[in-house]
Amino acid sequence: MKLLVLHGPNLNLLGTREPEVYGSLTMEDINRSIGQLAAELGCSVTFFQSNSEGGLIDAIQSAADDYDGILINPAAYTHTSIAIRDALSSVKLPCVEVHLSNVHRREEFRHVSLTAPVAVGQICGFGQDSYLLGLRALFSHLKNAR
Ligand code: DQA
Repeated sequence: MKLLVLHGPNLNLLGTREPEVYGSLTMEDINRSIGQLAAELGCSVTFFQSNSEGGLIDAIQSAADDYDGILINPAAYTHTSIAIRDALSSVKLPCVEVHLSNVHRREEFRHVSLTAPVAVGQICGFGQDSYLLGLRALFSHLKNAR
């Protein structure tokens, strides 16, 4: 099973970016933990981060033939990007949306996700564990679908 892990804008700054909100782990730290869990589960993961909407859309489109599912933190594009939502719908790969912070207890503009309605589900508020729980959820969703 091959999974694509996508990180949206500003997540490359994790570690120094608003640590009181996002914690002190870097994106590389999180990717390492995801890689370890993926090895335990027996699936392969590829990581990609982009600060641009187009970069993320290109990655989603090219995942269609090569991957079984997508774990995505669309970051701020969660709340604005019809184009990323359309890309996720178009490729028809199961996707799980994750957020480090609990977006529902933050500013009102973060309460709406344009991408969650086309995801299998959303996990937020658990820091790095959101990604690890998301990976487990995506993995078992795909396994059950087989
Ligand atoms: C985030 C939440 C978004 O609202 C924000 O724009 C981010 C990070 C999170 O992981 O908590 O960049 O997706």
